Amino acid sequence: MATDTHRNGSFSSSFGFVLACVGSAVGLGNIWLFPYRLGQYGGGAFLIPYLLFVFLFGWVGLSAEFGIGRLARTGTLGAYAFCFRSRGRETVGKALGWIPLMGSLGIAIGYAIIVGWVVRSAAGAVTGALLTEPDFFAQATGSFGSLPWHVLVVALVCLMLLTGAAGSIEKISKVMMPLFFLLFLVVAVRVAFLPGAGEGYRFLFAPDWSALLDPFTWVMAMGQAFFSLSITGSGMIVYGAYLDRSADIPGAALRTAFFDTCAALLSALAIMPAVFSFGIDPSAGPSLLFITLPGIFAQMPLGRVFAVLFFVSVIFAGLTSLVNMVEAVCESWQTRFRLSRTAAVLLCSGIILTAGVFLEAEPLVGSWMDFITIVVVPIGAMLGAVAIYYVLGWPTIRRELELGRQKPLSQFFGPCAKYLYVPLTVIILILGFVFHGIG
Ligand code: ALA
Repeated sequence: MATDTHRNGSFSSSFGFVLACVGSAVGLGNIWLFPYRLGQYGGGAFLIPYLLFVFLFGWVGLSAEFGIGRLARTGTLGAYAFCFRSRGRETVGKALGWIPLMGSLGIAIGYAIIVGWVVRSAAGAVTGALLTEPDFFAQATGSFGSLPWHVLVVALVCLMLLTGAAGSIEKISKVMMPLFFLLFLVVAVRVAFLPGAGEGYRFLFAPDWSALLDPFTWVMAMGQAFFSLSITGSGMIVYGAYLDRSADIPGAALRTAFFDTCAALLSALAIMPAVFSFGIDPSAGPSLLFITLPGIFAQMPLGRVFAVLFFVSVIFAGLTSLVNMVEAVCESWQTRFRLSRTAAVLLCSGIILTAGVFLEAEPLVGSWMDFITIVVVPIGAMLGAVAIYYVLGWPTIRRELELGRQKPLSQFFGPCAKYLYVPLTVIILILGFVFHGIG
């Protein structure tokens, strides 16, 4: 039994838990990366490796992170201490947990800046400036270019987390995630009626089977699936810590993976047909979101309305991911240092804002996010996988994962976890270095 357990309450239902996890998983990766990757690496053919990896990582990867959180009854820092305590090496675990935790903090610093750009774009869609001022994005991304929006985002997250932990996160997710799906669906239906949208569907789904012979397709599908599910050895652990013992973890993990995939496909359907309808070359990343799409909305009948709907739903996707990153840090500091909730949330938000203010210029935040997502986060994710399946060990985590289930786990779960998933986390780390990021 862990000595340091959290005092942050729990999710009221398995459904609330899944929505919170979907909130964490669905983020900018689904929106600005997946649609391009899908079309670029074989269209419909890309879905084969992607779905295989999503299934594998959801089933044994997410389950492991949820399971260790629930078993240890605490998030990142405490969970690693728990795993290593079982081998009489608690001090090692206490130290190692800082790596994934710094991954969460580091990614939150950059993510808050980017979500600030999204909020600014949504406001620009309301006023019309986003669609009429060609240098709207350039103004936002200079040094201190988006300070008020950045402050607003951090203040919002801070406020949400000050009003509670598990309960507050569940309420936010129950509102924001269904709205995200609904608004994106509205946009996807609208763009389906644009002339020439069919080219976009062909780009996305016409299968190029030869792409499956290119190892790069598999590498990109693997990286995309891994990072989209927010497997970081950190954020999903803390949500697991807030989960009731009666919940079926592998079932919840698969539902999370399913909804994350639906969100990625819906993003593809909302974006690419519009891009092709206006004869623009498909792309990915910030330029797609903040330059190409506003240009398209500017030319579309009722484009301003759809721009508002679109950017508001991206805010929901971004905020719910950011909330998870910040919560991982807050819970760990509350539990490890016996900080009050208020002190932990204020301290964490203060650090995210103070560090972020100096990274607002686009090249800086870009390099920062590269460093965090290519180096720190994959090391944390790998540590998590090794700590759970090898240090704590399969028999112990298996008992936890079988709680709340009618049927025992499949006999393939253990071998898939130990001999496929854990080695793949090492491979993802190495390939990320080699190719300068695959997720
Ligand atoms: N997994 C989240 C994303 O895709 C953080 O952006």
